[in-house]
Amino acid sequence: EKHVEGDLVNVLYTEEQIQNRLAELAAAIERDYEGKEILLVGVLKGAVMVMADLARHFGRHVEMDWMAISSYGSGTKSSGVVRILKDLDTDINGRHVVVVEDIIDTGLTLSWLVSNLASRGPASVEICTLLRKPEAQQMSVDVKYVGYDIPNEFVVGYGLDFNEKYRNLRSIGTLAPHVYS
Ligand code: PRP
Ligand code: MN
Ligand code: MG
Repeated sequence: EKHVEGDLVNVLYTEEQIQNRLAELAAAIERDYEGKEILLVGVLKGAVMVMADLARHFGRHVEMDWMAISSYGSGTKSSGVVRILKDLDTDINGRHVVVVEDIIDTGLTLSWLVSNLASRGPASVEICTLLRKPEAQQMSVDVKYVGYDIPNEFVVGYGLDFNEKYRNLRSIGTLAPHVYS
C-alpha cells in the first residue's frame, strides 16, 4: 500500500476526506428517501469501493445490486455505445434507484445507463458519484449527489484504475509520470 501510493504524484483526497464526504452523501440520501426503500446500483468495477463505504454509512436498510457495462471496442468510448455484460438481478419496476459511481468523466456511461434504467419503470432514478469532471463532460447528466468536482486530470485510486491497477489505493491522486513511461 505505502509502496504503491508512492506512484501518486499528488494526493487529491485522503482516505479520511473520502470517508467524511461519503458520510455526508449517505446522510443526504437518507434524508431525501425517508420512508422509501432504496436500491443502490453500483457500476462495476470502479464503483466497488464507493458502494462498499457509502452503504456502510447508512443507518438504515439499503439494498445493493450491480451492473457491468462496457463500451464497444477500445477507442470508441466517445460513441456512447454501451453493452451490458452483467445485468441487474433486481426488477426495478416501482423501485427507487440510486446509481452509485466512482467518477463521471464524459458522462456517456451514465447518460446511457440512466435512460436504460428509466425504461424499466422505476419509481425514481438518481445518481450518486464520488467524483465528477465538469470540463470533460460531453453529455449532460442530472446528478443529485456529487462528492467532489475535480479538474480534467487522470486520477487513480479508490476504485479508479490505470490499466486495471491502483483500484485498491485508499486515497485518490494523480499518477507520477514515471508510471506511464
Ligand atoms: C470508468 C468509471 C466510470 C466511467 C466514467 O469506468 O468508473 O464508470 O469510466 O466515464 P464516462 O463518464 O466518460 O463514461 P470504466 O469504463 O473505465 O470501467 P471500470 O469501472 O471497470 O474501470
Ligand atoms: Mn466504471
Ligand atoms: Mg476504468
